[in-house]
Amino acid sequence: QSMPEQERRYRASIADIETTSTGPRRVPERAEIGDTFAGTPDSDPALAANREWAARAVASEPPSLWSPHLSSTAEVDDVVRTARSAHQSWAARPAAERAAVLREAARELDARREQLLTVMSSEAGKTVGESDPEISEAADFARYYADRAEELEDGPMSDGATFTPHPVVLVTPPWNFPVAIPIGGPLAALAAGSAVILKPAPQTPGCVEAAAEALYTAGVPREALQVVRTDEDEVGQHLIAHDDIDLIILTGATDTAELFDGWRHDRAEGSRIYGETSGKNALIVTPSADYDLAVADLVQSAFGHAGQKCSAASLGILVGSVATSERFRRQLIDAVRSITVGFPADLSTRMGPVIEPPEGKLLRALTTLEPGERWLVEPRPLDDSGRLWSPGLKEGVRPGSFFHLTEVFGPVLGLMRADDLDEAIELQNATDFGLTGGIHSLDEAEIDAWTERVEVGNAYVNRHITGAIVQRQSFGGWKASSVGPGAKAGGPSYVAQLGTWSRDGLPA
Ligand code: SER
Repeated sequence: QSMPEQERRYRASIADIETTSTGPRRVPERAEIGDTFAGTPDSDPALAANREWAARAVASEPPSLWSPHLSSTAEVDDVVRTARSAHQSWAARPAAERAAVLREAARELDARREQLLTVMSSEAGKTVGESDPEISEAADFARYYADRAEELEDGPMSDGATFTPHPVVLVTPPWNFPVAIPIGGPLAALAAGSAVILKPAPQTPGCVEAAAEALYTAGVPREALQVVRTDEDEVGQHLIAHDDIDLIILTGATDTAELFDGWRHDRAEGSRIYGETSGKNALIVTPSADYDLAVADLVQSAFGHAGQKCSAASLGILVGSVATSERFRRQLIDAVRSITVGFPADLSTRMGPVIEPPEGKLLRALTTLEPGERWLVEPRPLDDSGRLWSPGLKEGVRPGSFFHLTEVFGPVLGLMRADDLDEAIELQNATDFGLTGGIHSLDEAEIDAWTERVEVGNAYVNRHITGAIVQRQSFGGWKASSVGPGAKAGGPSYVAQLGTWSRDGLPA
């Protein structure tokens, strides 16, 4: 089987991190371990240049690909009505025909890579290194779900049973993966034969419009996939609670899932929300680990897209002698210091701005230390926009503290210590969430013990913990990181869960 395109592209960006993590370019010559290394714009010419990039990033207008129109309640009703009738003709097409349209969509997404990169950078502040594999992920979803569509009629899933798709599926994606997630859910639902209403995150409507255009060009009828923007209040609530929407595919915060569920509570059909929600993810490093790889993967997982991923590593749990290893600590500090922060479209930028000036939990994580904590690299605001921050690394995060248990969604990595692997796993499992987790260890017994006990949807061994690869690492959570039956995106049963199965007229 050939390597998914997304994986090929990720490999290229990881190779880059391995180089920069040991590169001496940004490390002060006489720095002592434990110093606060973060430079300031005044003392560091590279950071001064960042101010200019950030100003450009914040000032640049996103391309006007979409209409800024927010729908009214009556327009939402029209959209839902259109979807219900479009579903019938779309579902009536043979699966092979729907699959062919999806495969064409993969080609179209790929052909629009440059346009998508531009709008992802300007709207979401995403770097090229992050956006490029994401576009491939969207195309991989299209090809993968096309194969699953064909299996619905004749494959291991069907086993003589008949599949009936949910007629109308609403997809509510987040802004942090502004192409792969908004397009992945609709591709799965279209594969199943549903009609889709797609409500972009308010921050990234252009990304969604640009990606949807690729699907229309490929042959998805405009009525079978409608993009609708609403406010987040009255009209948004009307859409979410709509009686004629059969299923919501949500990717977002656990709080949002609870809010939606409350709005849909009174429906005769039940709430029916399938989703992937928040995470508080940790990567364990044991003394047997390859430190070079562990450092590179911690940095990639913590600071990719400025830590704004539900899958991001927010905690590094250092076992036994790793916690006292000067070599490990020095390498990690150097690697964090080597991250170039700036204008996302600049190819040398590894970390771009956060989506909006931090407040609440993220601001607290960037600006305050809890008892016992100490900055190894202190995060600093780099310009007046409030959005551009240098990365933060701290040690001494205590069990049960704010930083141990709370998702902050930004560029801060906290280190914890554990005496042994058992304690490390307890710390990793202690949160309400269970999305991603990792271990770096070269000891098979340790890896087995960890795999047995870790409570996450995506468990990674000796690998960074973000960037799940369609088909190879289907993606989804456990505990408070998941809503609904929990089939994972990019995995074998994702499309098959988007409808009902019957045999001889009875539920199968
Ligand atoms: N699929 C993304 C990842 O694995 C998160 O949504 O990082």
